[in-house]
Amino acid sequence: MPIEEIRHPLIRHKLGIMRKIDTSTKSFRELAQEVGALLTYEATKDLQLEPHTIQGWAGPVEVERLAGKKITVVPILRAGIGMLDGVLNLIPGAKVSAVGVVRNEETLQAHAYLEKLVGELDQRLALIVDPMLATGGSMIATIDMLKKAGCREIRALVLVAAPEGLRAVEAEHPDVVIYAAAVDRGLNENGYIMPGLGDAGDRIFGTK
Ligand code: URA
Repeated sequence: MPIEEIRHPLIRHKLGIMRKIDTSTKSFRELAQEVGALLTYEATKDLQLEPHTIQGWAGPVEVERLAGKKITVVPILRAGIGMLDGVLNLIPGAKVSAVGVVRNEETLQAHAYLEKLVGELDQRLALIVDPMLATGGSMIATIDMLKKAGCREIRALVLVAAPEGLRAVEAEHPDVVIYAAAVDRGLNENGYIMPGLGDAGDRIFGTK
């Protein structure tokens, strides 16, 4: 299974607060960024380093730096924006590739309406961010788009995943590892994750 459920106590605590119905928009938004940062820490543990010589206070010192092209963070609009700054806090030099995917509420099919990808994707690790992995439709459409543009290394950060969505992504893209703060019970008849935390976009932007 290309899934890593990150069972870190800080993540579990913060996610618990996000599930509460009366958590304010301000708190929810802050927590989405914080959990986004913690997931980033986990998802980047095996990044390649290269030796590099700098001038230190007492002369040259061999240090390490991240090897290769800068990472691209790929927020899936709109809700993915809610985790973006958390990721950028840890990887400030990352480039951002914004992707817009909407779900048709009747067919639940994903439809891409925006594709603003950075260049040289064949040399970059892409970190997709989207709070909720429900049916997997938006995630699969985004991965399809990135691969079509040449990207070969893709990971995804999500707050809550449904087993149905994880299975769907694995069936289409078994090479993509998903880092989730929680894997919940499953989807209800409207495509919402249960118990989940409701509509993540509405809760981040305060639209409900
Ligand atoms: N999108 C959300 O915001 N919440 C869900 O539970 C499912 C999809």
